[in-house]
Amino acid sequence: MSSSQRQFSLGAFLMQTGHHIAGWRHPDAQADAGSNFRHYVALARKAEAAKFDAVFLADAVGVRSTHLPSLARTARSDHFEPLTLLAALAAVTERIGLIATVSTSFNEPFNVARKFASLDQISGGRSGWNLVTSSGGAEALNFNRESHFAHALRYERAAEFHDVVTGLWDSWEEDSFVRDKQSGIYLDTEKLHVLGHKGTHFQVHGPLNVNRSPQGRPVVVQAGASDAGKELAARTAEVIFVAHQTFEEAKAFAADIGGRLARHGRRRDEVKIMPGIFPVVGRTQSEAEEKFEQLQSLVDPVVGLALLSTVLGDIDLSGHPVDGPVPELPETNGPKSRQQLLVDLARREGLTIRQLYLRIAGARGHQQVVGTPQQIADQLQQWFEEGAADGFNIMAPWFPGGLDDFIELVLPELRRRGLFRNEYSGHTLREHLGLRKPGHPKSASTIKDEDRLAA
Ligand SMILES: Cc1cc2nc3c(=O)[nH]c(=O)nc-3n(C[C@H](O)[C@H](O)[C@H](O)COP(=O)(O)O)c2cc1C
Repeated sequence: MSSSQRQFSLGAFLMQTGHHIAGWRHPDAQADAGSNFRHYVALARKAEAAKFDAVFLADAVGVRSTHLPSLARTARSDHFEPLTLLAALAAVTERIGLIATVSTSFNEPFNVARKFASLDQISGGRSGWNLVTSSGGAEALNFNRESHFAHALRYERAAEFHDVVTGLWDSWEEDSFVRDKQSGIYLDTEKLHVLGHKGTHFQVHGPLNVNRSPQGRPVVVQAGASDAGKELAARTAEVIFVAHQTFEEAKAFAADIGGRLARHGRRRDEVKIMPGIFPVVGRTQSEAEEKFEQLQSLVDPVVGLALLSTVLGDIDLSGHPVDGPVPELPETNGPKSRQQLLVDLARREGLTIRQLYLRIAGARGHQQVVGTPQQIADQLQQWFEEGAADGFNIMAPWFPGGLDDFIELVLPELRRRGLFRNEYSGHTLREHLGLRKPGHPKSASTIKDEDRLAA
């Protein structure tokens, strides 16, 4: 392996008992994962020992569906608030990145800026913010609303929200806090920048009462794939999480993002595109298929149908024959791109409603690979080397076993091919991802750097 060989990034997408909707029923799964801190400590340390770039926590600010029969049979109703959990994990890990999902629809920018800046200080520069607008309609009911913000409006709010948060993160230049006991000067007010934001949706004066991030700023991640989602990501994201079914979709998405970045004066290497991958690994093909069929056999039809309804954007399918075709659907105000992805899949393969919910029971529309370590490595290598991805978000079917399989069986193959690191070379999330540390936009040294970079 030549030292210059490009390597990809890996995220460990942690989700309670695992990504497969019936994962909690796997005999080896940690069924109480959603309320078991020790479970997460073990997973985070495992991902760190395997040199993953980060652990990632998704979030919903509420129980996604109040359909009682499926609620009773699904292990998604209890989970820790992501920033609280990551702050605790920061204390029991050293190097692994810590990415939390926080919604711009149901939070205040000052609080979000402060929490991530604090997590970044606590973790020594390992935090990342997955900026979402919340795709589930039911979440709005927990925040003084009868219905969710309209899709376009919530992205408009998200854009301003992002600018306020990053503006607050730039309240202090490096070395602002001189703490000189002799002179009695605690901070250099020349290096203080008061935001004074007055916008359409937010009014935030600042400054932030947390010091500047050890990595310049926490890393901003996004996962929207509609036109509004891609436009916001192209202007603001450093990592883009995305779901794809085919290599062609992934390649087209990366090219689309590349074009949008240029329009925002950004270079392609300033952003890491990381599709989700749901790997079911076996030493042989049949062993992998056996593992997958074991999970599929645990899918309760009530749960499968409810999952599909949610992922399609809170679409009620109960009035349609489950062994009939997927009907024409009203456009959702929820996750527009995900609805389109599933409808395209169903049309492309002529799937019935039952076949579609079984198809997404594991990965909710993300790429699913059931195979040997070589087959999975082949797929990741192709997407990486042919420009469809810069890394992957690994979605283990069940925890801890599904992640153990990937670490024990697939990572050695990826390392043999020189595609993934053996050791961390950095300490911050940015260093792991190969992202530049942004200087303070108004500091003399940064302005000089920017001029030099622009030259
Ligand atoms: C890997 C990944 C993780 C996501 N995590 C969350 C999440 O934690 N909470 C959430 O509300 N939406 C989450 N989403 C959904 C996106 O934020 C977004 O709503 C969805 O991709 C649809 O985007 P669109 O409306 O721009 O099409 C995630 C999407 C992806 C691809």
